[in-house]
Formats: sequence, C-alpha cells, structure tokens
Amino acid sequence: MNTKVNVLGLTFENPVLPAAGPLTEGLPNLLDLNESSLGGLVTKTISVSGAVVKKPCIAATKHMVYNTELWSEHDLEYWTSHLPRLIENKKKPIGVSVGYTEKQLGIVIPAIEEYADFIEVSTHYNKASLEALVAFITSMTKKPVLIKMSPHIDDDLHFVETILKCGASGVVAFNSFGPGIVIDLKNRALLLGNEDGHSWISGPAIKPFALNRIAKIRSHFPKIPIIGCGGVETATDVLEMILAGADLVQVLSSALIGGRETYKSIVNNLDAVMKDNQIESIEELRNMGLERKVYGKGNYPTITDSCIGCQMCVTVCPFAAFTKGMPPMLDKSKCIRCGLCESRCIAHAIEGVLT
Ligand SMILES: Cc1cc2nc3c(=O)[nH]c(=O)nc-3n(C[C@H](O)[C@H](O)[C@H](O)COP(=O)(O)O)c2cc1C
Repeated sequence: MNTKVNVLGLTFENPVLPAAGPLTEGLPNLLDLNESSLGGLVTKTISVSGAVVKKPCIAATKHMVYNTELWSEHDLEYWTSHLPRLIENKKKPIGVSVGYTEKQLGIVIPAIEEYADFIEVSTHYNKASLEALVAFITSMTKKPVLIKMSPHIDDDLHFVETILKCGASGVVAFNSFGPGIVIDLKNRALLLGNEDGHSWISGPAIKPFALNRIAKIRSHFPKIPIIGCGGVETATDVLEMILAGADLVQVLSSALIGGRETYKSIVNNLDAVMKDNQIESIEELRNMGLERKVYGKGNYPTITDSCIGCQMCVTVCPFAAFTKGMPPMLDKSKCIRCGLCESRCIAHAIEGVLT
C-alpha cells in the first residue's frame, strides 16, 4: 500500500502527524516523535514568552480530553536554542506552530523560520483582523503558511477565502472545542478551568464535527492543502478524514488518552485497513471525493450466523423490537429500521439497515 503524501512541496511517508500540544512540547518529546513512524512533526505553539498555565490543566475520559493549556510554556529563546538539535537529527518534515498577535509573530516567525518546512499559525486566541494578520505573516516568510482554524468560526468558507487571498497556502481544521466547563461533583467545584473557569474539549467525540468541516471546505476548495484534525484515534479515522478531503491528518487527544504508543498503532494499522478497504494509495483516496450519499438501504435488520448471542441488540433497541434468544427474534411490527442495533452489534452480525 502506498501511504506517501506529496503536499506543500514536501513528501510525507504517511499522512499522520501529531497535533500541537503536550506531546510536541519541548525537545525531548520532539526527538522521540522524530524517531517514530509518524509522517511528520508539528511543534507546540511557540510565542515570544512562555505561557503561564493555571494548573491542573489536562484531564481525560475515554472519549474526550479537557484542557486549559495555552501555548508553549517554553519561551522563544528555548526554542531557538533547541530546535537546531532537532534539525540535526531530522527524519521527517517539520511544521512549527506559532502564535498569536502581530507583534509577537513579527518576532517569532523570523526566529523560527529556518527550522520550519511549513509554518502553522494558531488563531485560537486571536481577536485581531484575520486579513491583516495573515497578510502580515505571509509577507514575512516564503515558507508555506497554514492557518489553524478554531471550531467556533461560523463562516468557515469566508475564513478560508480570506486566508488564501492574504497569501496562506492552506488550512488546519481544526482546534479544540469550547469553551466548556468540567464539574467535580464531589467537591462542588470545577475539575479544571482557566481564570473564567473554562476549558477546551477535544478527542474522539469531536471527530464528526471535524469531518463535516473538512468535507465542506474541500467541496468549495478542491485544490488547497488541508490538514484535518479533531478526534482521530485509529487508522480507519485517518482514512475517513482523507476521504473527507484532508491531505494530512493530525492527532493529539487519543494519544493523550491512550499514551504515545497510539501513534505507532495508528500508523502500523494503516496498511491493513487500506487493504481491507481496497485502498491502493492515500493519494487515490484523497482524490476520490466524498459523495454525500448514504449507503445503507434502511431495510429491516437481519441477524447472520456470526451472532454470538450477546443480546446487545435486545438491550439497546429503543422500541423493544428484539426478544432474547440465540439469535434474538425481531418483531417487525415494532422495528422502525433505525440502524442502532446494527451499529452496536459487537460481532458485526446484523446487516440490512446501515449496510
Ligand atoms: C492539552 C492540549 C494542548 C493543546 N495545545 C495546543 C497548542 O499549543 N496549539 C494549538 O494550535 N493547538 C493546541 N491544542 C489543540 C490540538 O492541537 C488539536 O487541534 C485539538 O486537540 C483537536 O485534535 P484532537 O482531538 O486530535 O486532540 C491542544 C490540545 C490539547 C488537548
């Protein structure tokens, strides 16, 4: 299987990159990921001064991460003195994430530019005019500039149109959701939160929102580089994001939830999942274009010989259409052909509704 991606004038061995965050904060983490099977690297967002982050700042459940991090806690001097070490050992393309104001970027970009194959600009905390900011950034560098969008941007197409007009090469979609609050019931308090008590939400639960955003941008901008980001946890998720229109895919929260080995398992499984789905190359999948049509016919569910008798369908059916048994029995007069049983069947033994 061919997992190579050529985009931004660079070659990536595979489309999987870490997203800016704690796993790319500082030299030790970057050197570690540099040796991994990931297709490229992206640093934690660098600004002039190190961020002062209220602690605690990260918590997770199985499907979500909550965080109150800002940008890198290391200052620019740390990065300019440590990035050369990464470059000496460089094994893959490196994106340097930078932020935030025009004044800060005017100092940060010239200082980091030589280490970056592409520059990613986080606009998460920026209230200034996008147009002026992007024009200023792109006037300072010849390196490809990708602007990272926040999920709360309402007019996403206008956002992309604006950044392209101002010289950006492409977009990263997207950052974490929010703000939200996370409650610690026992202590009648918040589990974590910034000065306003807010935190940001990421991880597998946000994937459908990211997919929708990517597919929408891709359908209006067929040629621009798009890096997909948000909720990716498996090789299948990576391929879904490519089909939606991403050229490259960034991952963070699932590697915080499951540890950095998650990166290895995502990349290692790419080949097998591509084979299972008859995908010859990432390029072919990316150029296919997602058609917004539903495959399943919405017929009544049928239970195949693969049934293991777990009774999950009996448990989850909102209309009590199944009665216990081996296999369970369906009462068609109660079934509305919704598909929930098929999606929750542990043994993949139900077909006909979604598939
Ligand atoms: C703990 C934490 C720290 C993050 N720090 C940054 C950052 O410094 N710069 C940035 O652009 N995004 C940052 N993000 C956002 C991620 O890069 C990513 O866009 C978001 O979490 C969605 O992807 P995911 O669901 O794979 O985590 C951070 C996210 C988390 C959870």
